[in-house]
Order: sequence, then C-alpha cells, then structure tokens
Amino acid sequence: MTVAILLGSAGTASATTVPGTTAERRAAAPCPQPLPPAAHQAPPTGACGAPSPGAAGLGDSYFRDAGNGGYDVAHYDVTMAYAGARTGTVDATVTVTATATQDLSAFDLDFRGPEVGGVSVDGRSARHRRDGRELVVTPAEPIPAGRVFAVAVRYAGRPKPLRSKAFGTYGWIPSKDGAVVAAEPDGASTWLPVNDHPRDKATYAFHVTVPKGLQAVANGTPGPVRHGGTTATFEWSEGAPMASYLATVAIGKFHMRRTQAGGTRVITAVDPAFGSSAKELESTTVKVLKWAAPLFGPYPFATAGGIVDDPKLNYALETQERPLYGGFAPDDDFVVHELAHQWFGDSVGLTRWQDIWLNEGFATYAEWLWRERTGRDSAGKIFKRYRAQPASSPIFSPPPGAPGAGKLFGYSVYVRGAMCLQALRDRVGDRAFFTILRTWAAEHRHATATTPQFIALAERVSGKRLTELFQTWLYSKTKPRRW
Ligand code: TRP
Ligand code: ZN
Repeated sequence: MTVAILLGSAGTASATTVPGTTAERRAAAPCPQPLPPAAHQAPPTGACGAPSPGAAGLGDSYFRDAGNGGYDVAHYDVTMAYAGARTGTVDATVTVTATATQDLSAFDLDFRGPEVGGVSVDGRSARHRRDGRELVVTPAEPIPAGRVFAVAVRYAGRPKPLRSKAFGTYGWIPSKDGAVVAAEPDGASTWLPVNDHPRDKATYAFHVTVPKGLQAVANGTPGPVRHGGTTATFEWSEGAPMASYLATVAIGKFHMRRTQAGGTRVITAVDPAFGSSAKELESTTVKVLKWAAPLFGPYPFATAGGIVDDPKLNYALETQERPLYGGFAPDDDFVVHELAHQWFGDSVGLTRWQDIWLNEGFATYAEWLWRERTGRDSAGKIFKRYRAQPASSPIFSPPPGAPGAGKLFGYSVYVRGAMCLQALRDRVGDRAFFTILRTWAAEHRHATATTPQFIALAERVSGKRLTELFQTWLYSKTKPRRW
C-alpha cells in the first residue's frame, strides 16, 4: 500500500532535500499509465510499450537500495518453520502480494536471508538471481501495470543479524532459546524477501512452526495454535498496514499474559530470565495506554502489548502492536516511548528516513508528558534543563530534521526533536498544540507523512506562521538561540 505524498506548502521544504519528489513530477511519464502513478514512483525507464525492470531502490537519499520500484505490496504471508536454537535454521515460504505500477519485465525484492530454493510468480516458476542485498526476479511473462500478482519465495538456512556502528545488532537476532527480529531501519531483508521501505506499508500473516516447548509471538492478533507431534504452529496476523521494519517474530520460551486496556486486547510475552517483571510490564502497558488515548486520540491498532527477550540489544523497538524490549525489563519511560510510537512512527509512518524526528522526537516528548502527569516535573522544565546544556552537546547536533543516515538515532533526533515540540507548544498554546498532535495522528492514521506536512498542519491549526520556528529547531546547524 502506498500513500501519495502531499508536500506542505510551507517554504521550509527548501531547507531539506525531498527524495523522490522531483522524480515524482517527472513521473508524468510519456507513456499512458493505467494507474495514477503513486507519488514516489520513478518513471519507467523502458520505451513506451516495452516492459522494463523495476528500480532497485525507492530513491530514499538515506538508504539508496532500500525498497524497490515498479510495484506496491499489499500483503506478506510468512510461513516459517524454525528448527531450534541448536541449528538456528529456518525453512520458509513468503508470498508477497503486490500491484505492478509499471509494465514489469523483472523486479527486485530486498533479501539478505539464507539460500533461495525457488521463486514463483502467480504459481509459475520464475528466474531469480541474488545481487548483493537484492533478489532479482524475472517472471515467465512480463507483468502489466495495474495487475495484482503473487510472488512466492522459498528459502532455507540460518538467517543472520546485521551489525553496524550506527544501528548496533539488528534484523534477525539469535537468542538463547530461539530468535527475535528487530529490524529498524533496513534489517527486514535479513529474514524476509521484502520491499524494505517504510513508505510501502502492507498487512502481514505469520504462520510460525517451532519445536514443541517453544512459542512464537509476532505482531497483531493471535490465531489458534496447532499442535503437531513434535512441533506447534503459531498464527499471528497484522491487519493494519505496517512498515517492514516493524514486522517481528520472537521465538523462544515466554511468560504470556493477556488482559485488556479500555477495550483493547493486551498481550505480553516475557522471557523467563525477566519473568519477575512480566506483571509490571503488563500493568505499565495498560496504564500508559489509558493515559495516552485522550492525549493522542484513540489507540490505532486492534491489539497492544510487549515482548521482552534476552538478546542484550540495549534498545527497544516499537514493533507494531507489540514493542520489543531487547535484553532488559523496561521502566515506565521506555514503555511510554514505545507505546507513543504506536501513534507516531507506526500508525503515522515515515515517507522518508530523513524525517525520523517525527518518530523519535514525538516518542521522547511523550516521555516528558508522562513526567508532567505526576506534577513533579514538566515538559517545560525538562526543556529548560536541556537548553542549559553547552552548544557542543550532542543533543544539539546534527540538526534533527536532517541528521544523516549515520545519526538517525543520535541524541539530537530524540532530544532536540522533542525540544522542537516544546517550542511549538510554547508558541501556539496547549489547546492548539494538543489539537495538532491529535489531528496529525488522525489525518495520517495507517499512512505515512513528511515534516513539511507537519509544519503545514501546525500552521493551519494554530493560524500562525511557524516556518522560522521549525527552521530553527529542525534544520539550523547550531544550538538554537532564538525561537
Ligand atoms: N526506534 C527505537 C526507539 O527509539 C530505537 C532503535 C531502533 C535503535 N533500532 C535502533 C536505536 C538501532 C539505535 C540503533 O524506540
Ligand atoms: Zn523511539
């Protein structure tokens, strides 16, 4: 599913680069298009009438190869058998249902997983080859633009995590008794053949078979568990559109708990090593969900919860409906942060990675609001304490509106991003500020959006010119002085 980008009219767009947008205008391709071109698509490169290969990337300036051109995914069906921690191997078939957005002679999926056994398109065997992180598929017949097609990829072997300085260990991560997936930003391809860009959201179904005694937990709503002789199969389905980096499965032993928060099912799964915190994770999750709904608007998904697993990642990830806490029992700030992401980051997703502050600045600001609720601290006071930091502090640079791929999760994205929201609140007042937050969540629910769109919304709701404020807080190279 792709959502057309409507860039805000705010002049701030010029302060930043907008990947894809000039290409979008060029997408008024010379060939007649049976579908209105989705906003981000690169124009087909072939001559009129000649099907051409889909592009190997979506043109995100932060991750050039991430995602692919020429199609739009609606659904992933993930059938996976996991052999156990001793071998760590999987045997999987993933079926990707997509719509062609150009006449396709071939197309790529992002895939860095184990050996591919075969690929079919609409049931007919297709040629495939690996090219670095891309899986290039050539169907028996070209796929006409507008056609819905299903690609089935079979693969088997031992998936491995990615490791990088900027992102730590991510993707498919072995645990003591199984494995767990934390794939932000571009790690989904370690375990799935995927259009790995947050712009192309899709629904997911997971059918995960594990050795008897283990469990599998994933995003969304659980289905029935089927018990075989030596195995059990767990079903989970994510019915709301989801970015690929938010897809997760956690395999191992877990203390499972089920409850409700204001009518929403809450399912938590905690590794036995953190078993003593299982009850607290559940109660904090419930408390935070009840607190957040009046502030941000109705919780956007069918279920909620959380997963605590053993790999020492030292970060958490806002995996949709069921955040993952990597190797620690989270305190309430962490739970607030990951649950706030369900509105800001998951439901309202990113069109381009550059706008990561829309996720991290908002989730951090939610922590400040949580502190404010007790009356012992306030977002304003927290802001002032940070403002007193020296200009050389990493909370101020790089600018959060254009941090660069290597600093996507740097302090400035989190802290100066949140400070930007406090500066906005000071300028427009509480009433307009919280209306802006709720309108943002409502207008882009289950879709994606950009910073210029946020600026335009803030100006529309408040009736104020805010270009300078956002320019200062998001894009100026140095510590903001005036706002
Ligand atoms: N999005 C996560 C959060 O703030 C953080 C995160 C995900 C992260 N993957 C990462 C941070 C990799 C550093 C490295 O909730
Ligand atoms: Zn976060």
